[in-house]
Amino acid sequence: MRISVFGCGYLGAVHAACMTRLGHEVVGVDVVADQVASLNRGAAPFFEPGLPELLSEGLATGRLTFTTDAAEAAGCDVHFVCVGTPQKAGENAADLRYVHAAIDDLLPLLRAGDVVVGKSTVPVGTAEALAERLDEGASGAELIWNPEFLREGFAVKDTLHPDRFVYGARSNEQGERAKRRLDEVYAVALGEGTPKIEADLATAQLVKVAANSFLATKISFINAMAELCEATGADVTLLADAIGHDARIGRRFLNAGVGFGGGCLPKDIRAFMARAGELGVDQALTFLREVDSINMRRRVRMVDLAREECGGSIVGRRIALLGAAFKPDSDDVRDSPALSVAAQMQLQGAHVVVTDPQAIDNARKKWPDLAFADTVEEAVKAAELVVVLTEWPEYVGLDPRQLAERVDAKRVIDGRNCLDPTAWRDAGWTYRALGRP
Ligand code: UDX
Repeated sequence: MRISVFGCGYLGAVHAACMTRLGHEVVGVDVVADQVASLNRGAAPFFEPGLPELLSEGLATGRLTFTTDAAEAAGCDVHFVCVGTPQKAGENAADLRYVHAAIDDLLPLLRAGDVVVGKSTVPVGTAEALAERLDEGASGAELIWNPEFLREGFAVKDTLHPDRFVYGARSNEQGERAKRRLDEVYAVALGEGTPKIEADLATAQLVKVAANSFLATKISFINAMAELCEATGADVTLLADAIGHDARIGRRFLNAGVGFGGGCLPKDIRAFMARAGELGVDQALTFLREVDSINMRRRVRMVDLAREECGGSIVGRRIALLGAAFKPDSDDVRDSPALSVAAQMQLQGAHVVVTDPQAIDNARKKWPDLAFADTVEEAVKAAELVVVLTEWPEYVGLDPRQLAERVDAKRVIDGRNCLDPTAWRDAGWTYRALGRP
């Protein structure tokens, strides 16, 4: 099939490359010329395992191209909308300007029977408004809502082999036809038996924010337990293991630490609360305010713990921070807990040095005043405290004996509960972590 993908960021670039792998002919459209040029060279503009290979493969077939000219999407049968929906400045609500701009671009190109597929995360009610715009434009095209659940770091796998498909459509003939078209796009994964839920537009939009709210709640739940553990001398990692054995609870997403960040969970729960307010059901989501607060408190607690470890003050102390990305296998620093902690420590007078295997360039753009080091060895030189804030495998595997030779004081704080406390203590380090004695 001939497919267009509007928006070639974390979601759209991966989606475009994966659709080519499935045998389709794909044109990716984005307004950022540098990004388009980079994608056309086969260079992913961000770090995502497997994406460069997939881009090169797709470009070599001649079935994958990227452009800034929306008109090149003319003649495609299916148009995916994958643009960003960031948090509005100074507000909790989502900024929908890029979604509407994509529809503006599409309207003159659409033909009867074409399908517009919304994948961006939007406040419920947006899809209905976009469907109306397509009707008013007499395009004859049908809108279908098909949320994306990909995780950064696993985006290629999550796109090619998702754990489920959700289609939201209007219950009429066009809606039905649009769904069957989308079945053709996803024929390979559907053939593998991937479950599919067909729903109305509102449900499909809600599924995405409900899923992200649940995941955020799970993380904040365990971080709230970490606060209890800190007050009682209990160990949150053992607690998570123990409750995680109950299949109804499950161990995944119960890793306590410095909390969640990234381009999705924080902004999605806030936009969801804002939308609930508009719908007059704000009480239904007041718990998400608490989820957000617990998450933010972990960052403050981390700075407090560093202060305790440094004997009551971090002023003038040399602190090495391992990790800037919001999670491993990503160079994304949007709302990164690691960078938030780094900035707070620096503002409170510490001499911080930040390192990360992939995210230094992005981190420097965001916080140019922070000091950065390319390697762990450089970052920890003469450090009086080492803090692990992103659980990159190379940090988890660090040899505490080797590292001990480079630092001024053998103090480590494990902000992700990812190190082996015994190994570090045996090597002479003072080991501290969130939620553990
Ligand atoms: C998330 C959802 O998982 C994905 O389904 C959705 O499509 C987009 O948002 P992503 O933002 O890539 O994906 O990251 P995710 O793996 O969910 O992690 C989010 C944050 O939670 C990270 O900062 C991570 O470090 C943190 N986290 C995760 C924890 O603190 N503890 C955990 O147990 C799990």
